[in-house]
Amino acid sequence: MAQATIHSLNTAPTESAQPACGPAVRLRNFSRQFGDTTVLRKLDLDIAPGEFVALLGRSGSGKTTLLRTLAGLDPAESQDVVTPGRRAVVFQDPRLLPWKPVWRNVALGLPGGDARDRARAALIEVGLGHRLDVWPATLSGGEAQRAALARALVREPELLLLDEPFAAVDALTRIRMHDLVLSLWRAHRPAVLLVTHDVDEAITLADRVLVLDEGRIAGDERIRLARPRQASAEFQSIRQRLLGRLGLEPPAPAQAAELIAFPGGEAVS
Ligand SMILES: Nc1ncnc2c1ncn2[C@@H]1O[C@H](COP(=O)(O)OP(=O)(O)O)[C@@H](O)[C@H]1O
Ligand SMILES: [Mg+2]
Repeated sequence: MAQATIHSLNTAPTESAQPACGPAVRLRNFSRQFGDTTVLRKLDLDIAPGEFVALLGRSGSGKTTLLRTLAGLDPAESQDVVTPGRRAVVFQDPRLLPWKPVWRNVALGLPGGDARDRARAALIEVGLGHRLDVWPATLSGGEAQRAALARALVREPELLLLDEPFAAVDALTRIRMHDLVLSLWRAHRPAVLLVTHDVDEAITLADRVLVLDEGRIAGDERIRLARPRQASAEFQSIRQRLLGRLGLEPPAPAQAAELIAFPGGEAVS
């Protein structure tokens, strides 16, 4: 089977999200079909080194297919796909091996004799320094997802791919996870592609929000709001534009005020 064109860019972490030496991700004219169904249709995508991009789209619009392509988990069939060499993925399900203690899950596949030290450092970063030797079954949902983040982080990815990683955790845990992901991103500066069905989550976290529709990028909204992002008129107008791109009616004003007060309340289904 033909391979995708994969270049290792080896970009150094920078404070800026602007490309220093070309994009971290570049797709040109990329298509993916399953049988007679075309899921991704001549899609173009660029992500700069260190850029935090969120991807919105209806269920079944091809978000996971795109993410799996960038992760190298789906065949690209010699198409024009450029990604960095070091990539890591976090899925909605933490996918920890139940028969290995937490640190061994994080260290899985790491070369060298310092694997435990590296796993410990990553687990400390996600606030699980005290849970190195426990079994995954003893972790809460939020802790398990933090362990999955540590497993990604320990690989020092230039591209971090997150597929609805907060969808299964409760609302309070989700807010804490947002803060954690932002602080890890600031510290390590990978390019990030966060797949989410939550419009507010996308605006709260990302430098750019993309909308996938009919197999193409149908919306590309740069978010210039300072972080941490609070409810504001600008937040609301971005939100309305994105909901429009998703083909959803913006909520009535009273309902919108409630949703801003309790973000995470509206999602694409
Ligand atoms: N391995 C597969 N075989 C057949 N169809 C698939 C496969 N993976 C995804 N699909 C189909 O492709 C479409 C997009 O799926 P997916 O990328 O998972 O969407 P999303 O993540 O946006 O919900 C869906 O219709 C899904 O059924
Ligand atoms: Mg999906």
